[in-house]
Amino acid sequence: MSEALTDLETQVRACTLCALVRGRILAVPGAGDPRARVMIVGEAPGKNEDQQGVPFVGAAGQLLNRLLGSIDIPRSEVYITNIIKCRPPGNRDPLPEEVAACSPYLDRQVALIQPAVILLLGRHAVQRLLPGSGGISRIHGTLVERGDRAYVPLYHPAAALYNGFLVETLEADFRRVRGYIDMVESRRAEAAAATPPNEEQQLSLW
Ligand code: URA
Repeated sequence: MSEALTDLETQVRACTLCALVRGRILAVPGAGDPRARVMIVGEAPGKNEDQQGVPFVGAAGQLLNRLLGSIDIPRSEVYITNIIKCRPPGNRDPLPEEVAACSPYLDRQVALIQPAVILLLGRHAVQRLLPGSGGISRIHGTLVERGDRAYVPLYHPAAALYNGFLVETLEADFRRVRGYIDMVESRRAEAAAATPPNEEQQLSLW
């Protein structure tokens, strides 16, 4: 699984599927633990990320690290990526065609990592993974379950850097995240225990 994720990251670094390839220094596939319980999805790489090829290394990344630290989740234990993997010129909003071109990469990352909870940073990540769910000001900090996935929409740390009053909201929302992870994981464990072993699992028991 981690090999498949590494292959995917290599593919992203060489991607030419949309026009952003012309302005980027480096594509930013994602980084972190391939077996993470928590996956974090932001919007797009900024200037620092474009230079280093690593997500969330600028000022918003510093705030994200602090928020993770506040709930005792080391950054090394999460997987962080963005809905688009290359920096848009001047940090403008991602265009629909750029989001569409990058979609298979994000979908595959989620499928390979199988996180317990996916934190969605900002409205673009929310629109991409929870279309039709309503505005972020209404649903931030809540647990939204769709299919077999669990999401927590959150304000983007960059928004909190511009609007200081959002920092407290983000801190409070992050405190809820801990409980959500435990809840989703214990439910998954209960479901797994209640499911009879399939033929393959049964054979490996014998
Ligand atoms: N903002 C994002 O959405 N992603 C990054 O990687 C950095 C800043």
